[in-house]
Amino acid sequence: MKGVVFFTMLLLLFFSLNSRAEIARRSSRVPSMGINYGLLGDDLPPPEQAVALIKSLGFGQVKIFDSDPNILNALANTSLRVVMAATNEELETLAASPAAAAEWLDQQVRPHLPAARIRMITVGNELLSHPEINQPRWPLLLPAMQNVQEALQAAGLNHQIKVSTCIAMDALNVSYPPSAARFRADIADSVLRPVLQLLSSTKSYIFLNAYPYLAWSENSNDIPLDYALFGPGATVVADGDLQYSDLLDAQVDSFVAAMEDLGLPGVKIAISETGWPTAGGPDEVGASVSNAALYNGRLVKKMMSNPPKGTPKRPGVSIPTFIFALFNENQKPGPVTERNWGLLYPNASHVYPLNF
Ligand SMILES: *[C@@H]1O[C@H](CO)[C@@H](O)[C@H](O)[C@H]1NC(C)=O
Ligand SMILES: *[C@@H]1O[C@H](CO)[C@@H](O)[C@H](O)[C@H]1NC(C)=O
Repeated sequence: MKGVVFFTMLLLLFFSLNSRAEIARRSSRVPSMGINYGLLGDDLPPPEQAVALIKSLGFGQVKIFDSDPNILNALANTSLRVVMAATNEELETLAASPAAAAEWLDQQVRPHLPAARIRMITVGNELLSHPEINQPRWPLLLPAMQNVQEALQAAGLNHQIKVSTCIAMDALNVSYPPSAARFRADIADSVLRPVLQLLSSTKSYIFLNAYPYLAWSENSNDIPLDYALFGPGATVVADGDLQYSDLLDAQVDSFVAAMEDLGLPGVKIAISETGWPTAGGPDEVGASVSNAALYNGRLVKKMMSNPPKGTPKRPGVSIPTFIFALFNENQKPGPVTERNWGLLYPNASHVYPLNF
């Protein structure tokens, strides 16, 4: 009897060690936290210093908004994984022909390999927003992405570098409740379906700019602030069988529901931008250092949890996430909040501490 108990305990011990080893093995694949490194400021420190700051803050991944060679040089020979971008303005070139995309890859990307650990090229940023400006470029998105993908394949780089695009939440025409979300009719079939098909076939991610702050600030009478700040720890929105206690989960799942509606339920999601502003104009309530510290602190805890938390629709699935942004950028146009998304002032001092 004692022997059986002992043997059972040994077995249990074995399994628990084994599952810990499994968790450790999986955790090596759990993505580290990412940060957006934007450059719309005339007082920002040089790239080498910015890169050192990114590392000292504890980020493992960085996202930039173009293919600036000075920044890619500063990222060379560091441990940081890099998401770089082809801009909306570069779509014409990239969509023109596979050869043009191959040339862009040769000039803008390959010189930095393998020293810079480039893992993703996003093609276009929020291209589906502001139809009045961007609509002429919508037909270019798929061919541009396809041509970059083809160029990566021809260069033997398609296994280490994926192609994606960054999309804002206004791609949805309704997002509440999450299960009712649908893509806007002007982009659903013509643009998003083929793009999502490409991402599905290349096992890439769709990159989502998801800002609970923006959703809350537009509906602050209906949405509790605490729900936007990961606060309640209890159900705020019940959507069929699914229970939501934070708005970011609801945003991600509304995107999943819209993809399901298009017949593409499996595309992986990354959050290319999220964050909270630390200051705003008199009409921009809720933008404060304390709310930003709460939002980003809880975001990091949630996204770094091991095993991953996922969302109600995708429990246990990790979501690579990039906070916006590294610095306050004084040349961003628009309301006061736009210039106050940073974790750091340009002089490198902290707007608030973020620990992880
Ligand atoms: C990265 O390291 C390699 C090997 O030490 C070196 O040849 C290269 O110049 C470095 N790249 C940069 C941009 O510092
Ligand atoms: C949202 O899109 C769906 C499908 O395209 C359409 O049936 C519906 O009327 C749209 N709703 C709104 C509010 O635009």
